[in-house]
Amino acid sequence: MQCSWKSVMLLALASIAIQYTAIRTFSTKPLSLLYSGLTPTGHAVNCSLRDLTKLGRQRLEGTDQGCDEARTPSASSVDSVNANKRIHILILATTRSGSSFVGQLFNQHPEVFYLFEPLYHVQLALLPRLSQSKNQAERRVMLGAAREMLRSLYHCQLSSLETYIRPRPSNHSTDKLFRRGASRSLCTPPVCEAPLGLEAQSLVLADEGECVRRCGPLNLSLAADTCRGKRHAAIKTVRIPQISDLRALIQDPRLNLKVVQLVRDPRGILASRIETFRDTYRLWRLWRATGRRPHNLDLGQINTVCEDFLRSVSTGLLSRPAWLRGRYMLLRYEDLARFPLQKARELYAFLGLDLDHSVEDWIINNTRGTSDLSSRQKFTTVRDSAANAENWRVKLSFDMVVYTQTACKPLLELLGYKRVFHPRELRNVSRSLVEDRTFLPFL
Ligand SMILES: *[C@@H]1O[C@H](CO)[C@@H](O)[C@H](O)[C@H]1NC(C)=O
Ligand SMILES: *[C@@H]1O[C@H](CO)[C@@H](O)[C@H](O)[C@H]1NC(C)=O
Ligand SMILES: *[C@@H]1O[C@H](CO)[C@@H](O)[C@H](O)[C@H]1NC(C)=O
Ligand SMILES: *[C@@H]1O[C@H](CO)[C@@H](O)[C@H](O)[C@H]1NC(C)=O
Ligand SMILES: *[C@@H]1O[C@H](CO)[C@@H](O)[C@H](O)[C@H]1NC(C)=O
Repeated sequence: MQCSWKSVMLLALASIAIQYTAIRTFSTKPLSLLYSGLTPTGHAVNCSLRDLTKLGRQRLEGTDQGCDEARTPSASSVDSVNANKRIHILILATTRSGSSFVGQLFNQHPEVFYLFEPLYHVQLALLPRLSQSKNQAERRVMLGAAREMLRSLYHCQLSSLETYIRPRPSNHSTDKLFRRGASRSLCTPPVCEAPLGLEAQSLVLADEGECVRRCGPLNLSLAADTCRGKRHAAIKTVRIPQISDLRALIQDPRLNLKVVQLVRDPRGILASRIETFRDTYRLWRLWRATGRRPHNLDLGQINTVCEDFLRSVSTGLLSRPAWLRGRYMLLRYEDLARFPLQKARELYAFLGLDLDHSVEDWIINNTRGTSDLSSRQKFTTVRDSAANAENWRVKLSFDMVVYTQTACKPLLELLGYKRVFHPRELRNVSRSLVEDRTFLPFL
């Protein structure tokens, strides 16, 4: 049964009063304890007090959700995830950290609805010019919108994207969804009925454009139906800076969100970005070519990566707040590149999902050495991933390496990436700079 507006307001007000009293009474205890002690017992409506409180806050913030939306089976379900429950996966990454590769580990699973960078549209609409806005207010607006979008998408409300897609879709249909071809579910029946034939599977990976050309405009209603039909959903994003930005979603028991944070040696990220984002990283290329650091080089480009990583990883590995329990796993790209199958198994074990054989097949097919990389494929994952993970060592100048590892020293230590102190050490790739480390999920 749905809650009426009046009961929502009444309960929200009541809960605020109760919380106020409770907070005053036990102000030394952590808030989470208070909340769990406030679950109502004999209500006429099927909404827990906690959810109504949350709903009240969301109303104040101007979002538009019904009570049914916020209703949860039980307030304590965060800790008792049962095996049949729908799992929502977020791949928290940054550009050029190997996130397309990790995305494929879910994209290839027949029971996972996978979306590649849906927040692109949110960012483009709200912060058109800047990929990393320094303006805190703008960042907050963007992050708030991003969180609401993630929540909607996990609930398969794909029409939420329509507000942000340009030109605005008509009849819930668009040919402008960013990187649609990267999502198998959006390129295969029933969303795409085009006669793709036997090569359909590899087509999705080898040439995303082929999907767009053959499938025609994307019917978002149909895609939403498909999303509902799948047992789980996964989203990859490079547009959320830190794990704490996701706290509200992680704490939402109805969402059952699990975050896989993908990290990579920042020196590897830098080398890859210099190759990929040629305009943005033009001055870094100049540095490499001339051997002299341009005075107007934007060092923030790499400092931001290290700060964001450090904050998230410190939270996830060291401070381990209760709200992250069972919801966070750290994955080093270098480990995935070296031991793809083993790491994929660990990943799926953490999530509580079966590793489908199609995922294993995909890994086996796509982690063998192939050297015929054309520039068109720079975003695809078909490559010799293990060799690639450390090839920054022959691509960056020693000065650039020294600068980066100095700026990122605490992070490198935390993640087990060794620094180098001599050019000979840098170029001698027979000795890996990745220490063996095991990062156990926080359960
Ligand atoms: C609340 O939900 C339970 C089970 O979902 C149902 O049996 C009960 O009738 C519902 N109560 C109200 C007031 O809707
Ligand atoms: C939307 O769909 C209806 C019926 O399918 C059609 O008549 C109409 O022309 C479509 N509108 C646009 C803008 O495509
Ligand atoms: C999209 O798919 C739905 C069925 O889910 C259908 O009713 C609708 O007509 C389709 N829209 C377009 C524009 O084809
Ligand atoms: C793996 O490669 C084999 C042989 O080329 C092919 O038949 C199979 O469909 C591929 N599987 C995946 C998941 O890519
Ligand atoms: C590279 O490192 C290995 C192992 O540390 C060492 O045996 C080898 O001599 C080094 N090669 C060069 C050219 O320095």
